[in-house]
Amino acid sequence: MDFNRKVLVTGGSGFIGSHLVCSLVDRHPDWRIINLDNLDYCCSPRSLESVEGRANYTFIRGDVCNSQLLNHIFNTENIDVIFHLAAKTHVESSFESPSAFQRVNVDGTRVLLRAAHQARHRPQRFIHASTDEVYGASLDQVFDESSPVRPSNPYSATKAAAEYLVRSYWDTYKFPVIITRSNNIYGPRQFPEKVIPRFLALLQRNKKCTIQGTLPKSRHFLFVDDAVDAFLLLLENGVVGEIYNVGTSCEIPIVHLARELVKMVKNVPDCEANDWLEFVADRPRVDLRYPIKCEKLQQLGWRAQVSWAEGIRQTVKWYQDNPDFWVDAGEGREQIRSRLEDANDLVGNASFLGSSSDQRRGGGGAASLQSKP
Ligand SMILES: NC(=O)c1ccc[n+]([C@@H]2O[C@H](COP(=O)([O-])OP(=O)(O)OC[C@H]3O[C@@H](n4cnc5c(N)ncnc54)[C@H](O)[C@@H]3O)[C@@H](O)[C@H]2O)c1
Repeated sequence: MDFNRKVLVTGGSGFIGSHLVCSLVDRHPDWRIINLDNLDYCCSPRSLESVEGRANYTFIRGDVCNSQLLNHIFNTENIDVIFHLAAKTHVESSFESPSAFQRVNVDGTRVLLRAAHQARHRPQRFIHASTDEVYGASLDQVFDESSPVRPSNPYSATKAAAEYLVRSYWDTYKFPVIITRSNNIYGPRQFPEKVIPRFLALLQRNKKCTIQGTLPKSRHFLFVDDAVDAFLLLLENGVVGEIYNVGTSCEIPIVHLARELVKMVKNVPDCEANDWLEFVADRPRVDLRYPIKCEKLQQLGWRAQVSWAEGIRQTVKWYQDNPDFWVDAGEGREQIRSRLEDANDLVGNASFLGSSSDQRRGGGGAASLQSKP
């Protein structure tokens, strides 16, 4: 079959990537969607079950740092569009293994850019997924796309470095890049090291939500469907060479978030919500908030469509309906189990992988890894 467009999504088996891939495959049967992913610990093959076997979907298991593989893909597939999402994404892990973050986030971007730029068939768009964290924290300044970049942790530093590489291909070759800087994205199928699924997973195990530090940390939360819509809009209407903030005014203090989830999952009155919170040691430095303006994206017609109330309702329901999603992760199961043990003390008892009958309350071991906020 001849396809009208060939789209390469890197990191298409991850949280945002799998939602993007499913949308592309569903909405564009005349486009061929190729997902390149090395299936890191944060992936479940179940995330893409709905598109497996579809005529316009291809999965390639591979490393974005592998230049031979990347050259081969670009020389054989006539790729028109690249969405580059593959990355190491867990902030706390970036303190422990910064070189892994540098390898994937910086070197991987460099290898991908070079292969895309050297391809015989010139791509029309290279859309690079970056983060609001490149701005660093702000108490009162609201960042727009021209604000200075001041990343404050190894994850955000590698994302900023990757952005500079991407921009250099625009400056040097007018290679048609677009950079997105998104707020925290949430929704179904997110690996439970990130804050919302981590709290939900703890509560589902009858453990307390562990909150790192007592500083008034807050985050802006954008539902994943709205993020995917922004990516698709930018593909069609974004201006090449430009950066676009992708975000929301929905700012939620982490303590409020935990209390809200406690009330939803545990059905307890407001006065009992604090019983399900536990404050644990923070890392040495933490960004309190990342406020951004999204006027450039809004001028293209984008608005977040999913309210916080609706997005969190759908998310909580999904985790309640799919308690074993990460358990049934196939060949990655052991790796996932080990990461969850590290991240959340979620599997301190065997029942997490075996049964759902653990009803013990409390415990709430201190998290040794921190979710993205
Ligand atoms: N989730 C958020 O809140 C958020 C916010 C802003 C920006 N982003 C960015 O969006 C992108 C996707 O984030 P996510 O939340 O879906 O992350 P994720 O961790 O769920 O997914 C990352 C994906 O990259 C893949 N990957 C990792 N190393 C790879 C390699 N060497 N080769 C090929 N694939 C590799 C993983 O297997 C995984 O599928 C990332 O670039 C991230 O920095 C995420």
